[in-house]
Amino acid sequence: MGHLQNRNIIIGVTGGIAAYKIAETIRLLRRAGASVRVIMSRGAQAFMTPLTLQSLSGHPVHTDLLDETAEMGMGHIELARWADAYLIAPATADTLARLAMGRADDLLTTTALATPAPLFVAPAMNQQMWASQATTANMKLLLDRGVHVIGPESGEQACGDIGAGRLSEPSDIYAAIDAFFPTGKLAGKKVIITAGPTLEPIDPVRFISNHSSGKMGFALAQAAAEAGADTVLICGPVTLETPAGVTRIDIRTAAEMLDACRLYSATPVDLFIGSAAVADYRPQTAAEQKIKKGGASITMELVRNPDIIGEMAQMNPRPAVVVGFAAETEDLVDHAQAKRLAKQLDVIVANDVSRVDIGFNSDANAVTWIDESGAETIAMTTKNNLAKIVIERCAGLLGSSADLEFSGREGAGS
Ligand code: PMT
Repeated sequence: MGHLQNRNIIIGVTGGIAAYKIAETIRLLRRAGASVRVIMSRGAQAFMTPLTLQSLSGHPVHTDLLDETAEMGMGHIELARWADAYLIAPATADTLARLAMGRADDLLTTTALATPAPLFVAPAMNQQMWASQATTANMKLLLDRGVHVIGPESGEQACGDIGAGRLSEPSDIYAAIDAFFPTGKLAGKKVIITAGPTLEPIDPVRFISNHSSGKMGFALAQAAAEAGADTVLICGPVTLETPAGVTRIDIRTAAEMLDACRLYSATPVDLFIGSAAVADYRPQTAAEQKIKKGGASITMELVRNPDIIGEMAQMNPRPAVVVGFAAETEDLVDHAQAKRLAKQLDVIVANDVSRVDIGFNSDANAVTWIDESGAETIAMTTKNNLAKIVIERCAGLLGSSADLEFSGREGAGS
C-alpha cells in the first residue's frame, strides 16, 4: 500500500499489560516507511523498558515533560509539530479520562494537546472498566472532538474476564492508521463523480425522482479525494455532508447535471464516474402552477433526458477512464454489459437494486465490475470500502490509460 512512506508517527504508550503489542506495531509502521517516535508514561515503563522501544523505533524514547536533554534535541512542542499522527496505545481508562479532561500533567497528555496532528487512541482495559459510565462518557467526548478510536476487541482478558477491552491487534492498529492517509494514487488527477437522484418537476410541488441517497457517490468522492484527486462531486438533492477536500455542485434536474458536467469538463478530466441515478425521462413541460385535481385519470407526456455519461464518453478530449454504474433488477450482467457497450464506457459497475440490503439507500453494496475483459464480482461490503476498491481499480486503469482503448465503440446509443 505504502500510504505511510515518510509519515511521522508518535506512539504514546501507557501502562497496561498489552503494552507488549506496541513492539510489533512499531515494526509494522517502520516497515511501511514511517518514522516513529515513542513517548512512554511512567506506568508504561513498569511493563516495558524504554530501551526496548528505543531499539525498535531507532530513536531515544521520550519520558519526561521537563527533560533537559530532550529540550535540546526535540522538546515536546517540536515533537507535537513533527507528527503527522499521534497514536496512544494502549490507552488506559485513566489516560482516556485525562485526555477527555484536557489534562497536561505529563509529556504524553501535553503532546496530545499541543499537536495539530490527528489523534488515535487504542483503548485497553478490563471489560468492566470499559463498560463503566465514566469511560463511556469520556469516549463520547473524545469521539465528539474527532479523536479516532481503534478497538477495543472482545475476548479473554489478562485478568481472566471475558468481554470488550482487549487492545486491538498490531495489524489492525497499523491498518487503521494506514487507511487514514491518502494513497496519493490519484495525485494530480481530475475526477468528476455524479451522485444521488435527479428530480424532474411536474409542477411547483410535484416531481419524478428515485430512491438514490447519494451514499455510493459520496463515498466514491471521499475515496477519490483521499487518493489525492482534484475531485468534483455533482449531486442531486441529498442530505449528506460534503467529504473533505471535495468540490460539491448541487443540481436538481438531469439537464442541470449535464450542464454542470460540461462546465467542469472545460479542462480535461482524467476519470469520470457516473453513480447518479439520473431520471431517464422528464415531464415534457413542468406546469407553472400546481396541477388541480380533475377527472379520474391524468395523462402526462414524458420525454427522454440527455444521456449524461454517454455524452462524457464521447467528449473531445474524452476522460481517460469513464465508469458507469448500472442499477438492475434482473439479468444483472447482460443488461449492464449492454449499457457499457451502448454508452461506450470503459467499465460499468452493476448492482442489484431489487435487494434492500444493498443498492439504494443502504450502507452496503455488492457489485459486479464489468470491463472489456469480462465480469468480476466484488462481495458485499460497506459503500465506503467498495468506493476505495473502485477508486483503487480506476487508479490502476489510469496508470495504464496510455494503452487503454475502448474496444466497444460501435453501437453507440442509449
Ligand atoms: O445513491 P445510493 O442510495 O447510495 O444508491 C447507489 C445507486 C444504486 C444509485 C448506485 O450504485 C447506482 O447504481 N447508480 C446508477 C443508477 C442508474 O441510473 O443506473 P442506470 O442503469 O439507469 O444508468 C447507467 C449509467 O448511465 C449510470 O452511470 C447513470 O449515471 C448513467 N445515466 C443514466 C441515465 C442518463 N440520462 N444519464 C446518465 O448519465
